[in-house]
Amino acid sequence: MTIHRPRRKPRKGKKLFGRKRKDRITTTPLVKKYWLQRYNLFSRYDEGILLDEEGWYSVTPEEVAAKQAKRCPGKAVLDCFAGVGGNAIQFAKRCPFVVAIDVDPDKIAMAVNNSKVYEVADCIDFVIGDFFQLAPSLKGDVVFLAPPWGGPKYKEKTRYTLDLLKPRDGHTLFHAAQVVTPNIIMSLPRNVDLTQVEELSWLSSPPLDVEVEENCVNGRIKCVTAYFGAITQKASCKDSAAMILCNFRMSLDGSTSA
Ligand SMILES: C[S@@+](CC[C@H](N)C(=O)[O-])C[C@H]1O[C@@H](n2cnc3c(N)ncnc32)[C@H](O)[C@@H]1O
Repeated sequence: MTIHRPRRKPRKGKKLFGRKRKDRITTTPLVKKYWLQRYNLFSRYDEGILLDEEGWYSVTPEEVAAKQAKRCPGKAVLDCFAGVGGNAIQFAKRCPFVVAIDVDPDKIAMAVNNSKVYEVADCIDFVIGDFFQLAPSLKGDVVFLAPPWGGPKYKEKTRYTLDLLKPRDGHTLFHAAQVVTPNIIMSLPRNVDLTQVEELSWLSSPPLDVEVEENCVNGRIKCVTAYFGAITQKASCKDSAAMILCNFRMSLDGSTSA
């Protein structure tokens, strides 16, 4: 495991599309397409956000990342495929403890830079490492998984199956996350096979609660988020139902807690 020390400059030879963006965004048509959506990705883009090509097409739009983070107030969250920090930044706004892991040191350098733009860098521990190797030693309340979907070509599939996730298939990924906690959030392509997603919950006994939501930006579905365990709304309803019942019983007993 390597704990990242922020670097000032990205490694030589890596193309970055950030501060010197004006002359470079024209270099790849793919980046240009995502650059047009830059303020949906990072509302503070103009303040010095940095992305490489993979970062452009794989970052979670800010509105979606904020919605996912809203589920985890007060939790210790592990963002296990952190990329350029789109999710980690939003978690850091709501959670007291966030760990951002990525196998690519350049992504971590960009995530550090971007979290400074959002003034949350001090709230995140950045780790350069392979999630599958680190998983057995990790501790946290929630594991957030936004693994690579295999590039923009995922859209061409009519049905995206979980074996297409990178670098390992969805079942292997879920198993690795379950070692840490049953409270798992997965960010998946909009064309994912939902039956397969639901089946992941059966890998636990008893099966985990599961909830799936479609995430839209400007009326277009960008991705699907699957919530497992205690962070599903079903689980929190169960908790509040239990709480109401408990308060009701206490009032019948004549005992109060407050
Ligand atoms: C879809 S991107 C994550 C985007 C991120 N949620 C964001 O909003 O910026 C997936 C990331 O997983 C990283 N990755 C791939 N294999 C990994 C592994 N075994 N362990 C940790 N990170 C990995 C890639 O370097 C890439 O940055």
